[in-house]
Amino acid sequence: MMKPLHVGLLGFGTVGRGVWDVLHRNQEEITRRAGRPIRITAVGTRTPERARETLAARPGAALSADLAAVVRRDDVDIVCELIGGVGDARTLVLDAIAHGKHVVTANKALLALHGNEIFAAASAKGVMVAFEAAVAGGVPIIKALREGLTANRIEWLAGIINGTSNFILSEMRASGRSFADVLAEAQARGYAEADPTFDVEGIDAAHKLTIMSAIAFGVPMQFDRAYAEGISRLTREDLRYAEELGYRIKLLGITRRTRVNGHEGIELRVHPTLIPATRLIANVEGAMNAVLVKGDAVGATLYYGAGAGAEPTASAVIADLVDVTRMHTADPGHRVPHLAFQPDQLTDVPILPIGDVVTSYYLRLRVDDRPGVLADITRILADREISIDAMIQKEPPEGEHETDIILLTHRTVERNIDDAIAKIEALPTVRGKVVRIRLEELN
Ligand code: HSE
Repeated sequence: MMKPLHVGLLGFGTVGRGVWDVLHRNQEEITRRAGRPIRITAVGTRTPERARETLAARPGAALSADLAAVVRRDDVDIVCELIGGVGDARTLVLDAIAHGKHVVTANKALLALHGNEIFAAASAKGVMVAFEAAVAGGVPIIKALREGLTANRIEWLAGIINGTSNFILSEMRASGRSFADVLAEAQARGYAEADPTFDVEGIDAAHKLTIMSAIAFGVPMQFDRAYAEGISRLTREDLRYAEELGYRIKLLGITRRTRVNGHEGIELRVHPTLIPATRLIANVEGAMNAVLVKGDAVGATLYYGAGAGAEPTASAVIADLVDVTRMHTADPGHRVPHLAFQPDQLTDVPILPIGDVVTSYYLRLRVDDRPGVLADITRILADREISIDAMIQKEPPEGEHETDIILLTHRTVERNIDDAIAKIEALPTVRGKVVRIRLEELN
């Protein structure tokens, strides 16, 4: 057996502990697969007292509160960054690369924001940066996109990649409770962060989508061009109306190659989306994740599993440790490229602004219940060549004179629908704002 590869673990929270436990529990099988042992020689954490007892049970790993020192230790070949955040994590990762260490990270925000810089530094140094755990936790979606689907021209992908949002939407639908109610419960149970903004406003999903888009299409990371809209303004009425029309509402991250006015572009967007209730992905419930990928040769493929949690995430981290261990001695030019495409083969296909996106729409309008109201609305849509696919109009409750109209449109460019909505909202018979939710058939 060859000599072990040595890992310096940065961070000993939920995921760090998961990596420690799984790596030791499955050590024998992992070694049989990797071809040599993988040993944690150092653990860096800002709260070492919390890790002391666990480490003492298996002596051999140094414990330190000085994370920068762990990165530079001679007995560390791979730096495993599990601290999160984009400040210290960026400094530590770049320092690891500068010292010729490979990096394994679960940090989606770091890669979405600083990935281009990090991968350029890693290529220049001839080291690997692996990040399976950064997207969809334990689901091996990075490996699938980068290697399993390498024969394909990937056309689009759509994913439920934020477990917190999916949990909240599942609960809202099942119980008929409001967003605020379910969020409060999720927080009380410790599912959602005290500050849930990144999860419920689509930012976390946009980080993950940015990474997948880069490796699906061979473009640089462009988080600043991603469109992110979360679930905090969704109402139970909209979930119910969607259901009546045969759809479910999910927070989806969607990235797609498209053409606008003869030019290639890439859609990169996260938002609540109506999808047909009969699709497999529409039935992904609770905190689970799923990604649907459409390749030109393979067709549609679906990847499903736990998107967070100690051991699911550790599963992805350790897969990367094994990959790095196997490829450690390979010539850097013969390794799988970080972003699936050779670094000099990335293209500059632009990310499209949301106004150029083409999709279908769910519109909910509060209107006066009077003759001619619907005709005015449909005329505005027809003038813009927006065709209506389905409609429900509710009877106003006894004694009331306002009612809801729900329209599903065919596909149209977003600017067009924005323009139509502005005109509809200006009608004297339309009350308040039009609710607009994008709709994808995913076929
Ligand atoms: N906060 C994420 C989620 C998990 O809710 O899916 C880690 O990426």
